[in-house]
Amino acid sequence: MRRVFCVALSFVQLISFDCILRLVTAQGVCYGQNSCLKGFALPETRSIIIDTDPGQDDALAILLALASPELNVLGIIGVAGNVPLHLTTRNIRVVCELANRPDMPVFAGADRPLKRALVTAEHVHGSSGLDGADLPEPMMKLQSQHGVDFLVETVMNQPDKSVTVCMLGPLTNLALALQKEPLIASRIQELVLMGGGFFEGGNITPAAEFNIFVDPDAAKIVLTSGIPIVMFPLDCTHQVLTSQRRIANFRALGTRIGAACAGWMEFFERFDEDKYGTDGGPLHDPNVITYLLKPEIYGSRFINVEVETESQLTRGMTVADWWGVSGKEPNVTYVRDVDADAFYQLLLERIATL
Ligand code: BDR
Ligand code: CA
Repeated sequence: MRRVFCVALSFVQLISFDCILRLVTAQGVCYGQNSCLKGFALPETRSIIIDTDPGQDDALAILLALASPELNVLGIIGVAGNVPLHLTTRNIRVVCELANRPDMPVFAGADRPLKRALVTAEHVHGSSGLDGADLPEPMMKLQSQHGVDFLVETVMNQPDKSVTVCMLGPLTNLALALQKEPLIASRIQELVLMGGGFFEGGNITPAAEFNIFVDPDAAKIVLTSGIPIVMFPLDCTHQVLTSQRRIANFRALGTRIGAACAGWMEFFERFDEDKYGTDGGPLHDPNVITYLLKPEIYGSRFINVEVETESQLTRGMTVADWWGVSGKEPNVTYVRDVDADAFYQLLLERIATL
């Protein structure tokens, strides 16, 4: 439908940049090239799948992806995490409609971790998971296909190594997909995930970060899968703190989306401000998307990372061999540094376009 609409517009020379990009990339014409149409310098596009448990920081990550013409979002999968699955899949659709993208395919994935009871985080995100902005119930429907099947099918059917998977919550869906079709491991271009922490300690227990703690068994499957992994642990995300000035910039956009972002950030930051005594809270998940757009704002090292699944004390701990003392093969690009001002500038600039 959107394609037809774009074509019609093109004949009257009213094509928006975004519309051209979506039309051309949808047909696979400009994949991996810098320019597709004579006279237009289009940015290289990257096809991504987002797997998420919104969550205010997840919501900002989704908006950033939808605002970025370099990214072709193939679909968004919900997982149980910050709140149960029926709320995360609702919240994804709230965000898509806020961004005026009711056409985005949204799928329900796993409603619980592989082997354990679900742990949620309403104490951080509020009872809806997306408290802080007053937004209408979504009208758009969930896809009938299961999210794990969508993930497998898409990775198997798209060109080899052309799909990047962005994981913003527990890693359950990707672990299930790997169990269902192990071949996806060699076909995924890159996996970029928010999870873990080592130098910062944990945020749900002294040792573990929430996304990994919720489903450490899934994390183990993913970390040992051989997929090229870029990991955004708390060691990085705790450097991108909201502040009154940064939040005011979003409100000053004067748009419904700007107001929603500001409301979400204000709601979300109070928990971490109280906990850490900081001015502002960390926006974890948008780092996964800003990395795809501006990798140069991050500093990382390719190291071995393993996850603890057994210990009562340290369940979900990600042991990061930063100094290479274990002699084990590196499996993760572990991101530890970020230019926080560049991060917020990019987020603001892109969300201003929605
Ligand atoms: C992670 O847990 C969730 O609460 C956030 O959305 C983020 O993905 C941070 O530990
Ligand atoms: Ca999340």
